[in-house]
Amino acid sequence: RIDEALVRALPKAEVHVHLEGGFSLVDLMELSKAAGEELPGPAATIFDVSTHDGLGGFLDFLDWECGLVRTPEQAARHAYSFAARETSSGVRYADVIVNPTHWNAWAGRVPHLLDAFAAGFDEAEQDGLAVVNLCVSLLRQQSAGEAVELVELLAEHRPARVVALSVDGDEAAAGRTGEKFAQAFTLARDRGFHRTVHAGESSGPEGVWDAVRLLHAERVDHGVRAAEDPALIEHLVREGISLGVCPRSNLALGVYRDWVDHPLEALREAGVRVTLNTDDPAPLGTTLEADWAVAAGVFGWDLGVLRDFARTSVEVSFAPPELKAALL
Ligand code: ADE
Ligand code: ZN
Repeated sequence: RIDEALVRALPKAEVHVHLEGGFSLVDLMELSKAAGEELPGPAATIFDVSTHDGLGGFLDFLDWECGLVRTPEQAARHAYSFAARETSSGVRYADVIVNPTHWNAWAGRVPHLLDAFAAGFDEAEQDGLAVVNLCVSLLRQQSAGEAVELVELLAEHRPARVVALSVDGDEAAAGRTGEKFAQAFTLARDRGFHRTVHAGESSGPEGVWDAVRLLHAERVDHGVRAAEDPALIEHLVREGISLGVCPRSNLALGVYRDWVDHPLEALREAGVRVTLNTDDPAPLGTTLEADWAVAAGVFGWDLGVLRDFARTSVEVSFAPPELKAALL
């Protein structure tokens, strides 16, 4: 029987998790007090996603959480505790998505925010915790011009630990955005940044096609609705493009009704490189080891399958080669 302790003991990477999804209830109580703001609802139900009205409402809640972070010390502390949370799941390396638009106190000062996070991750690494790098994310609703501006900013400042460009947010609210962001992602590739793209969560397979055809995605975050398109599955397998799957998030945010309806196992059996991640562990009330253990139970995986997941997570990560080699 696979249990959480067994999962924790597997050295692994997490490649689809948001820095915005790392605030515990205690963090929020402390930050809201410092900011002189009330919690938006009763503490007992603050993470109850049924009160958030789907992905759009959930993203608004992340705006509120991140808006409480006002000082570099608070940002660094959040980064440190994020690395500690990852470490406690047996994660040795994480590619963490950060979307500057959520951190609204830092508008116009994005490099300062990124530097503060890097300071927290540096300290965590010195303390022997997981190594964390950043995938800086566009919000789906941003303009083509804002997207190019962000990449130019990253290419000019080269903030420490930033390894990739990303895009997240609600695909249903913004419509198809592949064309709009194509220039920014091409520029990112040319400037040496990796690319990871949210798609096939609140869009169907067409969003995943756009990610791979227009945005040079090396990984697709979620991507689960690719399961509906056999030609797309074949393309993902052939090109070795991995999907950063987050079943618990999909269930909480209404993409699928139950674990047994989730296409994770079908995608894996089709030969797609899949990883198993949490997306936003704190507000979804989960941990990586809990999700791996439940998935193992639901899909009947043995330890060998989990070892494959752990290996794939490291292989598809944007970890530096020496660290990858040490973890494989
Ligand atoms: N940002 C944080 N979680 C997200 C999700 N599940 N989808 C899109 N954007 C997100
Ligand atoms: Zn995500």
